[in-house]
Formats: sequence, C-alpha cells, structure tokens
Amino acid sequence: MAMRQIQVADDTLVIHELEDVCDPATGRALTGSWIWASALVLSNWMTNQSRTNFSFLGKTVLELGAGAGLPGLTAARLGASQVVLTDIKPLLPGLLKNVEANGLGEQVKVRELMWGSDESLSEVGEFDLVLMSDVFYNAEEMVGLAKTLKCVCNRKTTVLAATEVRPSTAECLSEFVREGFMLVELPSEFASSEGMDTESLDSFAIFQVIPPHEESQMDSPCNRDHRT
Ligand SMILES: C[S@@+](CC[C@H](N)C(=O)[O-])C[C@H]1O[C@@H](n2cnc3c(N)ncnc32)[C@H](O)[C@@H]1O
Repeated sequence: MAMRQIQVADDTLVIHELEDVCDPATGRALTGSWIWASALVLSNWMTNQSRTNFSFLGKTVLELGAGAGLPGLTAARLGASQVVLTDIKPLLPGLLKNVEANGLGEQVKVRELMWGSDESLSEVGEFDLVLMSDVFYNAEEMVGLAKTLKCVCNRKTTVLAATEVRPSTAECLSEFVREGFMLVELPSEFASSEGMDTESLDSFAIFQVIPPHEESQMDSPCNRDHRT
C-alpha cells in the first residue's frame, strides 16, 4: 500500500492508497483506490480559498465518490465540524484507514453511498458543502449522481466539483444541465502538487454545481420520510 503525504495549510495529511482492492466483476483495480489529480487540485484550491475567501470553520461537508478521501479530509483539516466521506462498499476500509491515520475520527465519518440509490440516501441528511473530484467521466452515471445531489442539498448548500477535462466531461456536464443544474466554472489558478506536472494543470477545472430547487415535495426525487 502506497502512503502519500499531502500539504494542507500548515499541516500534512497522510493518505494511504490501496493496491489490492478489485472489482469482483471485472477483476480490475477500483478507480477509487488512489488519489486522482483532480483531488490534489481541489485540495490545493480549498487550502488557498481558506486563506482568502471561504471559511470551512463549522461547516458540514459530504464527499461523493471520495476514493481515498483527500478533499473531504482537507475540509476537516481546514475546520469543518462534520465530514462524511462516501463511496462504494469495497473502498470504505481504505477511507476509514485514512481517517484514522490523520486522527480525524471525531470529525469524519465514512459510509456507503451509491449514487441514485434510495437506500443509500436514507439518513444522510443535508450539508453545507458537497465535494466531488473526478466523478465526471461516465455519462450513464450522471442521472444517479444528480438525484443524490438533489437530495443532499438545500438552498444554502455549496457544491464544488473538480474535474480533469476529458472528451467525456462535456457529455457528463450536459446530463447535469438536462437535470436542471447550473454549472459555473470558478476562476482558478492551480498550483502543482507533488506527482503532477505544471503543464497538465491547464486540463483541470473546478465547477460550482447549482442544483435546481424543487417547488414542492411532490417534485422532489428524495424519499424524505427515510431521512433524518
Ligand atoms: C476516478 S475516481 C475519483 C476518486 C476520488 N474522488 C479522487 O479524485 O481521487 C471515481 C470515484 O467515484 C466512485 N463512484 C463511481 N460510480 C459511483 C457510484 N455509482 N456510486 C458511488 N460512487 C461511485 C468510484 O468508486 C471512485 O471512488
């Protein structure tokens, strides 16, 4: 298992990447086993924002498709009061290990959340901030992800998504627009992190994803009876 150290403000986060977790159906390594460059970009950007524009202090934060959990753990280091890291079940032990490695067990919880699944959404609740990195690559998954986002956001929730811009990205973003979301690309000057070359930084973007607000509960895709 590889161990990486990522600088966050004046501190360091320890992140273990998994080497032995495979999709039982394909035998391939699960994509969330390691830190993707978008997660480094988002963590860096959050750290810079925390110095100038945006306070994480006391915020409740949800990370979707967390993989190794870097953006969510960054939010915790920057003062978020409660962070929930979510992903598919086989990745949860690795996430828990990263929470423990950084002594963040009081602030950070880990739970399974499959995009679009009603069962996963029960008892999740709503958050001040939702983080996503490198989740815009498979357009077929976007309806489920959009449904989950609609259920975990209220009118005050901020949703931030960092992505590498690939041929499939535009298709994924179009799905979100079809689902009624607005996407605003945020001005960003990305700093390079260990393991990234500076030239590749042009191919990343950070979006604020603004959910549509359902006028009535009848329009809502969430079964709020199951929610806390
Ligand atoms: C490319 S990886 C990015 C991981 C991490 N966010 C990062 O940037 O390092 C995509 C992540 O989305 C998760 N994911 C994909 N489809 C999902 C679904 N339907 N429900 C929940 N998580 C999903 C994967 O398990 C994986 O952790």
